[in-house]
Amino acid sequence: MIIDTDLRLGDCKEILKELPTNSVDLIFTSPPYADQRKSTYGGIHPDKYVKWFLPISEQLLRVLKPSGTFVLNIKEKVVDGERSTYVMELILEMRRQGWFWTEEFIWHKKNSYPGKWPNRFRDSWERLLQFNKDKKFNMYQEEVMVPTGDWAKTRLKNLSETDKIRDNSKVGSGFGKNISNWLERDKAYPTNVLHLATECNNKNHSAAFPESLPEWFIRLFTQPGDVFRSLGIRNN
Ligand SMILES: C[S@@+](CC[C@H](N)C(=O)[O-])C[C@H]1O[C@@H](n2cnc3c(N)ncnc32)[C@H](O)[C@@H]1O
Repeated sequence: MIIDTDLRLGDCKEILKELPTNSVDLIFTSPPYADQRKSTYGGIHPDKYVKWFLPISEQLLRVLKPSGTFVLNIKEKVVDGERSTYVMELILEMRRQGWFWTEEFIWHKKNSYPGKWPNRFRDSWERLLQFNKDKKFNMYQEEVMVPTGDWAKTRLKNLSETDKIRDNSKVGSGFGKNISNWLERDKAYPTNVLHLATECNNKNHSAAFPESLPEWFIRLFTQPGDVFRSLGIRNN
């Protein structure tokens, strides 16, 4: 696959103005998590975060194609014993800006060291908020299918009569399953929880994410020849 890279350094709010309207298929960004890393690359106080980000998301809304997707990797910190609400406030303001908040994926940082604080445990997940400009957007689910788990080897060995028919939930949830459908399948659709290790190599940056994170969304939301833009990457 030919990757045509167009790296532009600068304040993304200004750089985005150079991009044509409706020109991007996928945007992925991990902006500063408020002022959590203000000692390394600066930051924005949680109380000022929404006001800082809205001019950026306004430009993102303009440059994104109607069939495109914007994924925001972020996680609110604890302020004075409480999880800050700036991320939730941002979601509500972005909806007022015209965005559809389509989905929330979770990045489970599977190699997090255990830890304990007086009133909480190690935080080992981050948000991956999916926003769209339109409810009809491109998505290539087959590109991120995963091998059917080992459970299938044992579970599908001896099927009962119930396993061979649609077995509706006994609690009336409307859900049902037909286990025998799995006999032919060696792949399954993933869930909205991504189990990925954090970046362990020194990338000379205090908040580098693993390349596998945007890669997964590139596979899910783009096809060869599409335009992908990543904002706020390491400026070193
Ligand atoms: C959480 S880090 C993301 C790092 C990125 N995930 C990576 O792996 O390289 C946030 C980055 O956003 C950059 N940044 C902050 N404000 C920015 C702005 N207005 N325009 C572009 N980048 C910005 C910071 O310099 C920092 O490198």
